[in-house]
Amino acid sequence: MGRKKEIVMSGIRPTGYLHLGNYFGAVRNYVRMQEEYDCFFMVADLHSLTTHPDTKELQDNVRRVLAENIACGLDPDKVALYCQSHVRETAELYLFLNMLAYKGELEKTTTFKDKARLQPDNINAGLLTYPVLQAADILLHRASFVPVGKDQEQHLEMSRNFAKRFNHRYGEIFPEPVAFNFGDDLVKVPSLDGAGKMSKSENQLATLYLSDSDELIRKKVMKAKTDSGPTEPNTPKPDYIENIFSLMQLVSTAEVIQKFESDYDNAQVRYGDLKKQLAEDMVRFIAPIREKAESIRHDDVYLKEVMEKGAAKANASANGTMASVRQLMGLNYY
Ligand code: TRP
Repeated sequence: MGRKKEIVMSGIRPTGYLHLGNYFGAVRNYVRMQEEYDCFFMVADLHSLTTHPDTKELQDNVRRVLAENIACGLDPDKVALYCQSHVRETAELYLFLNMLAYKGELEKTTTFKDKARLQPDNINAGLLTYPVLQAADILLHRASFVPVGKDQEQHLEMSRNFAKRFNHRYGEIFPEPVAFNFGDDLVKVPSLDGAGKMSKSENQLATLYLSDSDELIRKKVMKAKTDSGPTEPNTPKPDYIENIFSLMQLVSTAEVIQKFESDYDNAQVRYGDLKKQLAEDMVRFIAPIREKAESIRHDDVYLKEVMEKGAAKANASANGTMASVRQLMGLNYY
């Protein structure tokens, strides 16, 4: 009470469905942070225009992302959960920061080079200045902490550079934002095919989505790679078996895990039973989230209220920052 909380800000792309990797890697982190920080969580609808100029499905996707995040435990009364395009000041700060961003540094950004390769016919200026827009999102709230994955490290470094340049030229106003995660180690969410992590781009059938039906969850889990099992006690586990146990760690009870661990060590494990148990525990974990997200997604009245509430909080914060920014820049004529 009393002491001003530190500010956390992150953006969620409205493309793709949330999967278990997103849940344990990102969303669960947000949910924990909402208790201790002043949080701004934003659906990046403007960023999606850099790669998806066709907006036919945009509104649906934004609603789904909001619904999924709320179903996972984000509380629109505790955090500012909002849509990027509802904060018009974003565009203004983006413009100012663009004057402090150099063509050379933008062109050598990894994500720009990757996306340019993927869409050679649409290498638009928005794609080039994507990190500037992201810096505007963060700096608009003068956020210190940004919960993001490793792939966003370079964008954050650029945000710090833009902040430093602004502070140096016009006056100290922006903290230098750093990547941040709750707790020390991020849990591993391996894919079901024994290779890599769950990921929407690589292995859809080996990835469990929070929107998967019970049947689909069971089908995917039962297909997970196993073998004929250890023939001697205390055999080290191959990777793909280790992965199945890692997934159990996320959703099964300690007793269940203990039972299968000792079955394995005694060379008596039955992988059919192991997978059946994991499938049921996954269903028990995912089904309530899926059902909650489904009902929120279709509740237009509630979602409108969420977006309005989020926009009001985000705009209050953004307006405060931008009044100071204009003043520092000498753009306050009267
Ligand atoms: N670029 C981020 C991503 O691809 C999304 C994003 C947009 C973001 N604005 C942000 C992340 C601000 C953190 C802070 O996932």
